[in-house]
Amino acid sequence: MARAARTFHLTTFGCQMNEHDSERIKGMLRALGYEEAPTRAEADVILFNTCSIRESADQRFIGHLGEAKRLKAERPDRIVAVGGCWAQSMREQVFELFPFVDVAFGPGQIHKLGEVLLQDSLEAQAGFFEFEDFSAHLPAARTRPFQAWVQISQGCNCVCAYCIVPQTRGREVSRPPDEIVAEVERLAADGVREITLLGQNVCSYGRDLDRSQRTTFAELLARLDAIEGIERIRYTSPHPKDIREDVVRAHAELPSVCEHIHLPVQSGSSRVLKRMRRTYDRARYLDRVAMIRELVPDCAITTDIIVGFPGETEEDFEQTLSLVEEVRFDGAFTFIFSPRRDTEAATMPDQVPHAVKRERMQRLVDLTQKVARERAQRFVGRTLEVLVEGPSRTDPDRLRGRTRHNKTVNFDGIASPGEFAQVRIGSATSTTLAGEEVLLARLGGGAH
Ligand code: 5AD
Ligand code: SF4
Repeated sequence: MARAARTFHLTTFGCQMNEHDSERIKGMLRALGYEEAPTRAEADVILFNTCSIRESADQRFIGHLGEAKRLKAERPDRIVAVGGCWAQSMREQVFELFPFVDVAFGPGQIHKLGEVLLQDSLEAQAGFFEFEDFSAHLPAARTRPFQAWVQISQGCNCVCAYCIVPQTRGREVSRPPDEIVAEVERLAADGVREITLLGQNVCSYGRDLDRSQRTTFAELLARLDAIEGIERIRYTSPHPKDIREDVVRAHAELPSVCEHIHLPVQSGSSRVLKRMRRTYDRARYLDRVAMIRELVPDCAITTDIIVGFPGETEEDFEQTLSLVEEVRFDGAFTFIFSPRRDTEAATMPDQVPHAVKRERMQRLVDLTQKVARERAQRFVGRTLEVLVEGPSRTDPDRLRGRTRHNKTVNFDGIASPGEFAQVRIGSATSTTLAGEEVLLARLGGGAH
């Protein structure tokens, strides 16, 4: 019996890798003749692309799943499909705990979802969990025609004690460089101006490739920089233990590699870093920062920090605060440690009480925001190249875009999305810049 399922609704949680996978899921479903429904209630296929990085991510998703359960009860011919890291970490338990789920799949199995939906009937629940393939051959429904994510590797070989990702995304597999270059050439021909390379640990890219294809991350950057039409290259995330001078030099020497490095530090205490199994200490991290400052003086540096890792003392935490002061990060994502199932840190005995974690978090946020605001003042008075993304979120009469330093700018101007505008910066907060477009520059005049 053929099913009449023809519309889908997809909700995405988690990181850019998931956003990218979701673009592929959408592209694939459209290619199969499905249309996107505006609400879950109007969809024949209800999809979730999930995250499991912290408990809060799990909880948010479970709330949404409740609605899917109700909708499925109303119309049992609906399909409920759950993909991504949470699905992977739960594996077959998904079906035991949530019997209304029809399909579950892990990262790297998007094409399988298509195969299941193409079957004439879905008589049994389908689950598939091992990484199979990069989804690059699938069409992507990009959010913006001029920006694209490009996955360069899948999985992670690190053993960070807090992290669930090695379980959900498996061991590191690099995509062959020729495939990546070919994809980026296609994207450039299609009007893409800015690419963001994605990998759990981009700086170890290529180590698993066989000798005939072996390419370092810096060499990959150089090949992509040479592609006509690609004006901006970003990547996320490098690991402090693997970022080397050749990659930092690429920021100085390759015109399209942007002046921004997101370098997750996690803690400023060498003792905590050791227990986290990060394999670098505070001094080594600071060395890397010094190298960046020397080779790319204006580079923006952002980071991720975890507070309340098991065993973190007040003294350890103060080391984190002093590291923030010392590095002077342009921005930081800060997280309260959240024990994740089957990770080493989850069962460490000396868990930090919740109230202490909250209090440290507040102090850390106050400091990172203060430092970011101070750092951002260096842009005031400068004219920066901004890639226009659309109208400002707070004022539709203004425009919004991003600088090469990855700062969001709200500004008055006439440029269209996808264009580069020259914007004179008038003021700066910790997260955004404000200014106005220099229209003379658009006319090709400039200052004579
Ligand atoms: N608890 C809190 N934060 C975490 N992160 C990863 N795992 C955890 C966890 N169990 C943070 C790290 C990482 C970012 C993506 O999420 O800072 O860099
Ligand atoms: Fe991304 Fe990690 Fe969340 Fe998976 S668990 S979606 S890799 S942040």
